[in-house]
Amino acid sequence: MNILAFESSCDETSASVVVANRGFKVKSNIIASQVETHRLYGGVVPEIASRAHTEAISRITYEALAEAEMTLSDIDLIAVTANPGLIGALLVGVNFAKALAVANDIPLVAVDHIKGHIASCYLGGKGNVAKPPFIALAASGGHTAIYRVASHTELYIVGTTRDDAIGESFDKIGRIIGIPYPAGRGFDALAKEGFIKATGDEINFYDKYKKSAAYKDKEMILPSPALADGSLDFSFSGLKTAAINLLHRYEQNGVEIDRALFAARYTYEAVEAVAKKLSMALDRYPGHDLCMAGGVAANSHLRRRIAQVAKEHGVNLFIPSLDLCGDNAAMIAAQGYYEYKKGAFADSSLNASALDTIEAERT
Ligand code: KG4
Ligand code: ZN
Repeated sequence: MNILAFESSCDETSASVVVANRGFKVKSNIIASQVETHRLYGGVVPEIASRAHTEAISRITYEALAEAEMTLSDIDLIAVTANPGLIGALLVGVNFAKALAVANDIPLVAVDHIKGHIASCYLGGKGNVAKPPFIALAASGGHTAIYRVASHTELYIVGTTRDDAIGESFDKIGRIIGIPYPAGRGFDALAKEGFIKATGDEINFYDKYKKSAAYKDKEMILPSPALADGSLDFSFSGLKTAAINLLHRYEQNGVEIDRALFAARYTYEAVEAVAKKLSMALDRYPGHDLCMAGGVAANSHLRRRIAQVAKEHGVNLFIPSLDLCGDNAAMIAAQGYYEYKKGAFADSSLNASALDTIEAERT
């Protein structure tokens, strides 16, 4: 089955052709990023995002089909992100996909963006494909949540942020310390510099960090975003606010902060919180493997630490390749396939929604 998929929920317009035939093969995955445009404003401007999607979507569809060496007549299924996200941005993809499906008489399925991110763990190729049941972390600019993936189409939230998302917090704090939007990647690199500086070790810097003098520096103490209430929930706004106050304190005292050591400290608290809650989730749900998806799953320190968590629990870990961590349409195609198998077809009345639809686990 040949699937053409679209993603336009935020600031990346993407079209992809994926073949589903006893596993998935990504034939093309074209991503038109608007990052340069939004960087001028330090964050995504929804109006501008919608217009940029409108300009890009036809072109990238041609590109995706051409790279896959297919035409619309080869396509058996169209999948599109319908929620959650920026409503104006989502509507561009949804309308385009609907028009294409109706005009060419191709079945259409709507895909939840977060289910799509998690489905990027199905695209790893032979021997590297997640199989439910598993625990999944979705960590992006808009989400930080832990899911129990009971089947390809049945997911339940078991833990979530009560306020900000981890990616948004990296972007915000990164911006304050002079890293251009989106700050995640730059933050990752700066933190590495800080960890190495703190430990003098270029390889095992993360593991040795807690014993370093930099970690013990009282001026740099930051709170953990892992809520200490036995839940699997987070609060990133507490960490963010404490970090802003810390930066102000340095400024008021006329002391220049060591940006690298600060980035390392911030990253350490964020990563350890995720490690702690994923560890608790694996204890709570025996027999479940582990997946990590979303833009923040590209974070090198998080990848390394979560690999340890999986090993300690004796479970398999699936993390998408770096190109599939951020927003892309190949992941939407993969989830779209399972929605199709379930028979969850959309028709020409399909609408977009800004809202999350994945339900909380009932305990
Ligand atoms: O999944 P995504 O592309 O879009 C959303 O659905 O939000 O995630 C984007 C987020 C941004 O906040 C970006 O700063 C963050 O992922 N990000 C990272 C890294 N690469 C991207 N955060 C931490 N470390 C990274 N290496
Ligand atoms: Zn995303």
